[in-house]
Amino acid sequence: MAAKKRRTASSARWLAEHEKDPFVQRSRKQGYRSRAVYKLDEMHRKLQLLHRGMTVVDLGAAPGAWSQYAAQKIRDGRIVAVDLLDMEDLDKVDFVRGDLLDPAVRNRLKDKLGSGADLVLSDIAPNMSGIPSVDQARSIGLAEMALHFAVEVLKPGGNLLVKTFQGAGLDEFRHEMQLRFRKVGVQKPEASRSRSRELYLYGSCLKEP
Ligand SMILES: C[S@@+](CC[C@H](N)C(=O)[O-])C[C@H]1O[C@@H](n2cnc3c(N)ncnc32)[C@H](O)[C@@H]1O
Repeated sequence: MAAKKRRTASSARWLAEHEKDPFVQRSRKQGYRSRAVYKLDEMHRKLQLLHRGMTVVDLGAAPGAWSQYAAQKIRDGRIVAVDLLDMEDLDKVDFVRGDLLDPAVRNRLKDKLGSGADLVLSDIAPNMSGIPSVDQARSIGLAEMALHFAVEVLKPGGNLLVKTFQGAGLDEFRHEMQLRFRKVGVQKPEASRSRSRELYLYGSCLKEP
């Protein structure tokens, strides 16, 4: 009973904080599906991630703010997106509902991509169990899968932006990225809450195998 009360109080606190968040208010005004768009916006401004005509993969795409933003920047390009959850249709976005960890789902994405992608974005975050070691291992596992998939589908010289979390396994993951990309950098955009251990690794220019 006490645990249930604590959970209800913490959800109420989260909701109150969410409603006051300036990024949430701005995303509603600007018609974006989530505040996450301002993370991508800041990283795009710094890194020039998105260009006209690109083929982009959006891993963990729902509710769809990153895809909305990317679609505006790539103009006549296209996006292949995946999420465990359903996502409302968006122009230029070919959406697959499924688990990135499932090989059949990855094959469906590859079929849709045909000749490959210029950029892979991954904002995937696991459902949190509340057990830090389990959550950390799951998030690193998902980042590794995003890297593995990116290496398979990126055109030579392509780029990967992937969400990770500070903690066990991050240094090893960063090293794996460095083996695959010419340059690897860390990003912590302003819209990423400071108390969150979330950060993004950007690997630019996929090396030849
Ligand atoms: C932080 S949200 C992404 C927000 C998104 N970038 C946006 O702008 O709207 C993380 C997403 O990862 C998805 N996800 C988690 N595990 C996944 C998996 N194994 N396969 C596909 N999607 C997954 C979740 O369902 C969730 O929608």
